[in-house]
Amino acid sequence: MSGLTLKGLRKAYGAAQVIKGVDLEILPEEFVVFVGPSGCGKSTLLRMIAGLESISGGDLFIGGRRVNDVDASQRGIAMVFQSYALYPHMTVRENMGFALKFAGASKTEITAKVDAAAAILGLGALMDRKPRDLSGGQRQRVAIGRAIVREPQVFLFDEPLSNLDAELRVHMRIEIARLHQDLKATIIYVTHDQIEAMTLADKIVVLREGRVEQTGSPLKLYDDPDNIFVAGFIGSPKMNFLSARVQGGRLVLPELADQSLPLPALQQALPEGAQVTLGLRPDVFKRGGSASLSLTIEIVEQLGGETFAYARVGGSAQIMTIAVEDGRALRPGQALVASFDPARALLFDTDGQRLR
Ligand SMILES: Nc1ncnc2c1ncn2[C@@H]1O[C@H](COP(=O)(O)OP(=O)(O)OP(=O)(O)O)[C@@H](O)[C@H]1O
Ligand SMILES: [Mg+2]
Repeated sequence: MSGLTLKGLRKAYGAAQVIKGVDLEILPEEFVVFVGPSGCGKSTLLRMIAGLESISGGDLFIGGRRVNDVDASQRGIAMVFQSYALYPHMTVRENMGFALKFAGASKTEITAKVDAAAAILGLGALMDRKPRDLSGGQRQRVAIGRAIVREPQVFLFDEPLSNLDAELRVHMRIEIARLHQDLKATIIYVTHDQIEAMTLADKIVVLREGRVEQTGSPLKLYDDPDNIFVAGFIGSPKMNFLSARVQGGRLVLPELADQSLPLPALQQALPEGAQVTLGLRPDVFKRGGSASLSLTIEIVEQLGGETFAYARVGGSAQIMTIAVEDGRALRPGQALVASFDPARALLFDTDGQRLR
């Protein structure tokens, strides 16, 4: 399996810059997930790697070879789309074997490779059906099978599971994780789904407006984000952000009736009066700790195993999401003292950069 190197990769449509200089190292056999808001350039970047979109600037290397001007069919890549893109008039077997047939492979070779892929994906019983007679999950499995038979160096997936219902998504997510283990494939995967990103990725790349905001393991991005954008984007429910000012060695929170908290330990000293943003993940409140906020509960969400309380200080606009351990007895209108370990609070400067 090949790794990839992206060096200052750019894409412009006329005057519109869409990819604005992306540098990225993807290791052989790595599972890399691209996330970011709609329109940030995830699909464009994937299509540039696939060779479906020309490269306006920078260099793309696959397995050490510069491929900017190499035809898509010669890049050793297979792509799976959200829309499956199966041939409706062909059976599952014909769909899966088409690329090999097109490349002039022998019948024996096609049968062997298609059967092997079908076994991996549990498609054996469906080989003579047409796509219209398959469920969404089965169609997507055929699309993945079509990619596997080509034995690519790199698999590209663009939101492959977003047309599936919730249960099937979970099932297919586990299949994709298994596929990665079995094939030891290099995979680049685009998704809007937080859980897919967190569970599948060796490395997540957070994109914003055509640039990389941060790259790292899922837990690195969750625990140690470089800026407010990454902190807010990774994690569901989202991190709480509160404006705060440094006063007398504490953090005063004007949006929460001037309650104050101990200042988290930082490598740098913050001057008296400094304005900062405090970031607290909902789950920091699960384990309690020496810092606390007094709030009033407005809404309670019971998920069975988990409870989320949405709470604020009377009159303030700032609503906090609090994950509560054993929260089944919580009711709207109740007072809630949400306590946490101040070491788990993150601070950001007025430009949104992390203060460490
Ligand atoms: N052919 C094109 N001409 C002009 N602009 C384009 C073209 N294709 C894409 N764009 C623009 O490039 C930007 C990135 O699009 P892209 O499809 O890569 O976003 P995305 O991150 O995949 O979004 P989504 O999550 O909605 O799929 C968008 O602003 C889009 O409008
Ligand atoms: Mg897209």
